[in-house]
Amino acid sequence: MTRSWTHDTERYRYATRADIPAFNALLSDVEVGRWLWFTPLPTNGVEIFFGPLLDRQTKELDHGDTPQTAVFIVEDLSGDFLGQGAVVEVDGSPHGSEIGFQLMRKAWGGGVGTRLGRFLCAYAIECCDAYRIQGDCLEGNAGSAALLKKLGLRLEGTRPDYRLKEATRHTELCFGARVQDLDTELFKKVAEKTGLVSRRS
Ligand SMILES: CC(C)(COP(=O)(O)OP(=O)(O)OC[C@H]1O[C@@H](n2cnc3c(N)ncnc32)[C@H](O)[C@@H]1OP(=O)(O)O)[C@@H](O)C(=O)NCCC(=O)NCCS
Repeated sequence: MTRSWTHDTERYRYATRADIPAFNALLSDVEVGRWLWFTPLPTNGVEIFFGPLLDRQTKELDHGDTPQTAVFIVEDLSGDFLGQGAVVEVDGSPHGSEIGFQLMRKAWGGGVGTRLGRFLCAYAIECCDAYRIQGDCLEGNAGSAALLKKLGLRLEGTRPDYRLKEATRHTELCFGARVQDLDTELFKKVAEKTGLVSRRS
């Protein structure tokens, strides 16, 4: 089974336990974590949070199954780590996929997030048969909100003071859309370009 895909200047691949040090480097940057409700992580937090997910993913891949909850590494074409993205099955929303992403600071502002977000949507649609795609961020996370909107997701609601981060309550912004309301042609092109699906003749 294919485990990596290339889109212009980046490569995406399924993450494994060997990537945990890179996750640590990413999530220990206070600027990266500034708007992440789950940071700062406790000691071994990355291992505790991501370890079981990565183990399950590796097991599914070894069985030839396509993970419906998938954690990806994004790296440049020389293999330099740029960040991570995930597609996660949404409890209680059949064929609902949630997307999330965190990039190293050096990768911000150059379109890496847009390309990664499009890849995640393409994966949700083509590999998870997504009916809906959603993504949340804290109010104030202008970069994430801009990216979620750019992908075509709409602000569906807010959860006032939902998250507690470092003794401060934060409002969560909930973005989402039915796949039929998204630019599915664009995501199809991304899926073909990266090799998630074979090209149409
Ligand atoms: C959010 C994040 C993934 C965006 O990635 P990126 O590669 O910088 O995004 P892009 O360069 O593709 O930009 C996407 C859009 O967002 C806009 N944008 C990016 N950062 C922005 C910011 N700080 N403020 C306002 N808009 C911003 C861009 O202008 C672009 O819109 P445009 O094409 O209409 O001009 C990245 O900043 C990041 O990893 N942040 C830290 C972790 C995080 O907050 N993750 C999201 C958790 S919910």
